[in-house]
Amino acid sequence: MHHILSLLFALLLTIPSFPLCSSYNHSNTCRSYCGNISIDYPFGLKYGCGHPGYRDLLYCINDVLMLHVASGSYRVLDIDYTFQALTLHDPHLSTCNSIVLGSKGNGFVVESWRAPFLTPAPDNAFLLIGCSAKSLLFQGLPSKHLACRNVSGLGCEDYYRCPAWGSFGPKTLGLGPPECCAVAYGDLGPNQGINLTKLDCQGYSSAYSLAPLRIDGPHEWSYGIRVKYSVQGHDAFCKTCEATRGTCGYSGDNGSEIRELCFCGTRNSTSSCDSITSVESMISKAITLKALPWNAIVTICILISMDLWNKG
Ligand SMILES: *[C@@H]1O[C@H](CO)[C@@H](O)[C@H](O)[C@H]1NC(C)=O
Ligand SMILES: *[C@@H]1O[C@H](CO)[C@@H](O)[C@H](O)[C@H]1NC(C)=O
Ligand SMILES: *[C@@H]1O[C@H](CO)[C@@H](O)[C@H](O)[C@H]1NC(C)=O
Ligand SMILES: *[C@@H]1O[C@H](CO)[C@@H](O)[C@H](O)[C@H]1NC(C)=O
Ligand SMILES: *[C@@H]1O[C@H](CO)[C@@H](O)[C@H](O)[C@H]1NC(C)=O
Ligand SMILES: *[C@@H]1O[C@H](CO)[C@@H](O)[C@H](O)[C@H]1NC(C)=O
Repeated sequence: MHHILSLLFALLLTIPSFPLCSSYNHSNTCRSYCGNISIDYPFGLKYGCGHPGYRDLLYCINDVLMLHVASGSYRVLDIDYTFQALTLHDPHLSTCNSIVLGSKGNGFVVESWRAPFLTPAPDNAFLLIGCSAKSLLFQGLPSKHLACRNVSGLGCEDYYRCPAWGSFGPKTLGLGPPECCAVAYGDLGPNQGINLTKLDCQGYSSAYSLAPLRIDGPHEWSYGIRVKYSVQGHDAFCKTCEATRGTCGYSGDNGSEIRELCFCGTRNSTSSCDSITSVESMISKAITLKALPWNAIVTICILISMDLWNKG
């Protein structure tokens, strides 16, 4: 009789521990991969994952990571979490070997609400090609093309040395606008972006320099768009959330207020996982944190029940 009771007692103690323990297993449901690029905070591929400033931004299509902003879609070649930068590629971006005209390129324009979170690096040079004399770039600047400059040592004089210019070459008559004009993203004013239609340009190239290395010429430049990301403020919310083993995310969309959320396994919190005061989470926490005493309790229970059984 006693042994049945003690068996039930032991079962009673062990069975609930499985769902309790697994419910406290805060496996990061947001971390993922696209091809060989790891997707982590502040980015996310799933709705609700990451920081809200990066929502509806990245898409994984057949293991190719794509970024979508107002001006179009770009392939993401790399996410540098240390330097908080993304390297983007636009198939219609001119390089040292080919110049793409016909206004096919995207340029780069980011939605104004997203601009504080994502903006091309200040040392990324946009080389605008074939812009009309009426372009904003050349307005109000009678004597010199003030807007055009060298950006971190990357400029049109060097770019003209590329084989791509060989066939038709830059016009050197000196009266019309230059065939190429290099600017940095912020040069044209806040939230203007690089809008090829608005600037009346035929094409563009983009290059960036990573290390302060002496680069031998435009054939050694890195072509692509280097974009910096910055979670505004010190992101105390996510730090607190992660410190309590939570995963940072957000909720709300389309009209409803967007707020940061801390995913805590079976629950979501608007502060941190510690603020959950349900009995279940307290028990499961105690169990996970004190695994050894728990095992000891089970062992003691078994010993007691065996003892009772022997006596019975
Ligand atoms: C958490 O759960 C995942 C699967 O859901 C498992 O792979 C992982 O080992 C678990 N982690 C811990 C600490 O139990
Ligand atoms: C991903 O793989 C490609 C080659 O397939 C390589 O060029 C690239 O550096 C890799 N990227 C990362 C982030 O490992
Ligand atoms: C670029 O400028 C054109 C003309 O001003 C405008 O119609 C278009 O919406 C702009 N594109 C973006 C992505 O802002
Ligand atoms: C850019 O740098 C080149 C040398 O690499 C120089 O010849 C040219 O005058 C500079 N252009 C501007 C606009 O400062
Ligand atoms: C937001 O609205 C768009 C269309 O207006 C819809 O496609 C999308 O699914 C909505 N998102 C959510 C999370 O409801
Ligand atoms: C937590 O929030 C996310 C995103 O809004 C949602 O998908 C998920 O179902 C929520 N989980 C719980 C347990 O409420």
